[in-house]
Amino acid sequence: MIYQIAVSSFADSDGDGRGDLRGIIGKLDYLNDGTEASLGVDAIWLTPINTSPLRDFGYDVADYRTIDPRFGTLEDLDELIAECHRRGMRVMMDLVLNHTSDEHPWFVESRSSRDNPRRDWYVWKDGRSPGKPPNDWLAVVEGSAWAYDETTGQYYYHAFLPFQPDLNWRNPEVRQEMLDVAEFWLGRGVDGFRLDLINFLYEDAALRDNPGRLGIRPYLAQRHVHDFSQPESLEVAQALRGLADGFGERALMGEVCTDTPDDCLAYLGDGTDRLHLSFYLDFIRQRWSATGFSRSVGWLEANLPPAAWPCYYLDNHDLPRSFTRLGAPGAEERRARVAAAMLLTLRGTPIIYYGQELGMARSRVPRQLMDDPVGIKFWPLRVGRDGSRTPMQWAPGPDAGFTDGTPWLPVDAMCARRNVATELAQPGSLLDWYRRLIRLRRATLALQTGSYRAIRAMPGGVYAYVREHGGKRAAVLLNFAARASEPELPADIWSNRSWTCALSTHTAEGEIRGPRLKLEPYEALILISG
Ligand code: GLC
Repeated sequence: MIYQIAVSSFADSDGDGRGDLRGIIGKLDYLNDGTEASLGVDAIWLTPINTSPLRDFGYDVADYRTIDPRFGTLEDLDELIAECHRRGMRVMMDLVLNHTSDEHPWFVESRSSRDNPRRDWYVWKDGRSPGKPPNDWLAVVEGSAWAYDETTGQYYYHAFLPFQPDLNWRNPEVRQEMLDVAEFWLGRGVDGFRLDLINFLYEDAALRDNPGRLGIRPYLAQRHVHDFSQPESLEVAQALRGLADGFGERALMGEVCTDTPDDCLAYLGDGTDRLHLSFYLDFIRQRWSATGFSRSVGWLEANLPPAAWPCYYLDNHDLPRSFTRLGAPGAEERRARVAAAMLLTLRGTPIIYYGQELGMARSRVPRQLMDDPVGIKFWPLRVGRDGSRTPMQWAPGPDAGFTDGTPWLPVDAMCARRNVATELAQPGSLLDWYRRLIRLRRATLALQTGSYRAIRAMPGGVYAYVREHGGKRAAVLLNFAARASEPELPADIWSNRSWTCALSTHTAEGEIRGPRLKLEPYEALILISG
């Protein structure tokens, strides 16, 4: 189980209003203190901490081998790693290999003249004709992916925002330098990486136009065959795997940003030779629907190579929080419980995003307090991502127990009710539900490594599956519907075993008498047998 920490937003130790590494160190017991009182996660993933102008939450690196002073020092990171390891937790860093900040000295040099030795470290090209970018490629956030640079009269390529120029991975020096960066951090004791936009590293060598297709937005009206998911990026995944394996038990998790689920699989290779984990976007695209999630998981289970391992999440720093996104008025928390049960009992590595376990909702950050460049650029058409990045809610009160200063983003109003202190003291809170699910998962091999099989013929609104390991079974029944339901476990699953309710939002723990079950509205029920 991985817990994603948005470093700016988790805990501030020095009162500057922004979270930092020492803040995280002070909160590790909450995540895992080795007892059942804590959440019990296995690893933390930190959003980027490298030196950065922080114009995109750190996804705009200006020096890959240092830590931004606002987050701390290299020594702080060493201490964080040591403290995590002492508690049996691993530390994963975010590695942004595709692009740098435009303030990175490499880019400053690169843009200075056409014959600068670093010129070829980025993707430069003449316009098609005066005022026309080199080709039709679009930035992920809309608009041409090419920015014109007056100094040298050429365009540079940026898959994301103009201040995030893409590195030219076709230059062997760039490739070597970035692999060296990975090695540097692995050598420092980091347990692995979350690899930002890993399928974006290479573009078509000839920079050919993308063919068009029907689509509601310009970006969707292109077939993205030339701007990302090029085969060369897979070779980098392979090279990184070789590097990581040389350090022992390390893990690589790729943000494979694509609508093509086959690409997500490609980055896993045969399950042993490329990344360990790959983001599966289809899962987070699902609305609140038992069949939707069931179909999404079914596709991955059917197509994943035998040695590969799934990875699921419902929240991250780019998405509207699932509490709001999947919630319905008045049913947010009940749905959040069902979603948590699913996330933590599916076969695969679950990622929990900070505050998800408290029921942090999508916050409404006023325009004048926004930080996210996407929100600022497209407001009010798009509100951006700040609403999912507000301070972690540790305690009631205006600063949420997050900082002694002024928080960099405003604390959400729900903090008064949804915060660690309040929910820890409240049996039956959402936080308590997460802890119990995690505890059950830790105690149940079938839930950790067991096989997955969907249970067909369930009543509408119910998603159910069986996990099995060494003859022991766990059956998970999730009622997505606001009405009660009476599903029956098929004979081959019930198979006259003795079943107990191990955990449920409604049913009392203890023996289950027959295969015919009763699910309350939004009930999550986990049965164990053998
Ligand atoms: C990834 C990150 C996102 C960032 C973008 C550009 O999608 O998750 O937060 O803005 O890459 O680096």
